[in-house]
Formats: sequence, structure tokens, C-alpha cells
Amino acid sequence: MQTLFDEWEFSHQKVSYCMYIIARDKTLSYPSLSNSVISDFRFGPPGTGKTLLAKAVAAETSANFLPVSIPDLIKGEVGESEKAIANAFRIAARSSPCVIFLDELETVFGLRDESGTLGKKMISQLFLELDALTARQLPVIILAATNNPEMIDRTILRPGRLDRIVYVRPPLREERLHILHLLSVRTRFSNEVDFDDIARNTENYTGADLKALTQRAGLLALKRCKEGGNAEQMAISQSDLLRALALVRPSISKKDILRYEKFRQLSL
Ligand SMILES: Nc1ncnc2c1ncn2[C@@H]1O[C@H](COP(=O)(O)OP(=O)(O)OP(=O)(O)O)[C@@H](O)[C@H]1O
Ligand SMILES: [Mg+2]
Repeated sequence: MQTLFDEWEFSHQKVSYCMYIIARDKTLSYPSLSNSVISDFRFGPPGTGKTLLAKAVAAETSANFLPVSIPDLIKGEVGESEKAIANAFRIAARSSPCVIFLDELETVFGLRDESGTLGKKMISQLFLELDALTARQLPVIILAATNNPEMIDRTILRPGRLDRIVYVRPPLREERLHILHLLSVRTRFSNEVDFDDIARNTENYTGADLKALTQRAGLLALKRCKEGGNAEQMAISQSDLLRALALVRPSISKKDILRYEKFRQLSL
């Protein structure tokens, strides 16, 4: 199986930066999309920035962003689910240059064991559309994401389909520091706050967990300042952050991370 880990290794700093750029409604001058389909498969724990990165790619390349939630394509009537998949790809082709983001990809493969036929039909349709889009060589980026990579049928990861496999892992210490700095842009922190210390003490926290942490610290700070009668002067202190740290725990366990690492090893 072709994998491009080195070239496509996920960069949290980049996502944070992109998010910052998006927030300011600016686009980076990235090489524009060429006349070829780029496709990749992102897997990793919830809250690590898979969706965020897809939006960032669209913003960087000035492409349209077309989010497609696979569960939303599942319809009750016979033939309607396949039509919904075909329709999503038709819109993608029409909106090119575009980033089509297939979220919760595992859902379609999970359907196989239930009634059987619907899942199989949807998977064939998905393969058909991916192959057709690739053959047309339109400037489209296909990004697919999942939290459950083990459920995915390997045939979708073949060359020419979703052949770039990207592990979106929880951020490392330096990356957490970067995310914390990013989160501080819109929130008032007191000068004594030691983000380095917080980054050191947040192993296994995802970007979403760090956001939850700063939000909780904000609420604690507000309460503290209100009690002191100076809510207008509210600024998050180091002790607010440390108290929040005891309340907001990482949403993923070491065991989960090992599971993702194992899948990554198997994909190499
Ligand atoms: N690298 C990051 N930099 C800044 N913020 C981040 C980062 N990663 C995650 N976040 C924060 O966490 C939120 C959730 O991220 P996102 O929805 O992209 O995660 P996800 O990997 O798609 O999760 P899921 O698997 O549940 O869909 C973002 O909106 C953002 O606030
Ligand atoms: Mg997501």
C-alpha cells in the first residue's frame, strides 16, 4: 500500500495557524489546485483537528469546501442512498476547484454486516464515484476522515483511491503550546500565565480538550472576579488554569492512542 507519511505528516502548528488565518478571513498564497485529484484518508481520535484541517486546506487553496457527512447519505428508500452519494460527487465536480470532505467514513462500511445489501451498494457507489472523479482529472481534493480506521475496507486505501494515509494524532508538547497561544488570542490571560507549564501537564489532551480547558478556566476566572466585584477586569490566571486542569481531563486514553498507533504501523 502506498503511504506518504513523511510528506503528509500532520502538522498541528500548521492547523492552528490555518485556523488563525481563517478566523481573520485571510487566505494563504498556496499553490493553486492543479488539474488532478488529490485524495487522502485521515484517521485519529476525536477533537484532533481532522475537520479543521480539511477547512484549512480549502481556505489555503481558495477552493470551495463541500462537507459530506456519510450518515446523512443513508436513506430509507431503495436506491436513494446511492443517488445521494452520486449527487454529492456531482456537486463536487461542478464546484471544482473544491475540497470534498467525507466525514465519518466508517459508517458506510459498518452497514455491511446489518442488512448487508444497502452497505454493499453504497460502498460500490462510493468506489465508482471516486474512480470516476479521479479519471476526470478535475481540480478536486477528496479528504475522508474517521475515528474508527479498523472498520474501513482496505480496498478504499488502494492507489488511485484514498491512497494518502494521514494519522492525525494528539498534539505533542510544543504543539500544545502553540495551540494554547492560539487560543489566548481571543481570551484575556494575565501576564503571569505560564503556558509552557500547562503544555507540559496536558499530555494526551487534544486540541478540542485544550479549548475546553481554557473555556473552563475562563468560567472559573469570571466567578472569581465577580465575587471580588471586578468582573470587568477579568483575566484568566495560572491558578484558574490549574484548577480547570483538575476538572477537564483528556477525552482519550492511552489505550485509545495505542489503538491508533497500531493501525498506523499496520498501514506503513
Ligand atoms: N490543531 C489545532 N489547533 C487549534 N484548535 C484545534 C486543533 N485541533 C482541534 N482544535 C479545536 O478542537 C475543535 C474540534 O476539532 P475538529 O472538529 O477539527 O476535530 P476532529 O478531529 O474533526 O474531531 P471528530 O473526529 O470528533 O470529528 C476545533 O474546532 C478547534 O477548536
Ligand atoms: Mg470532525
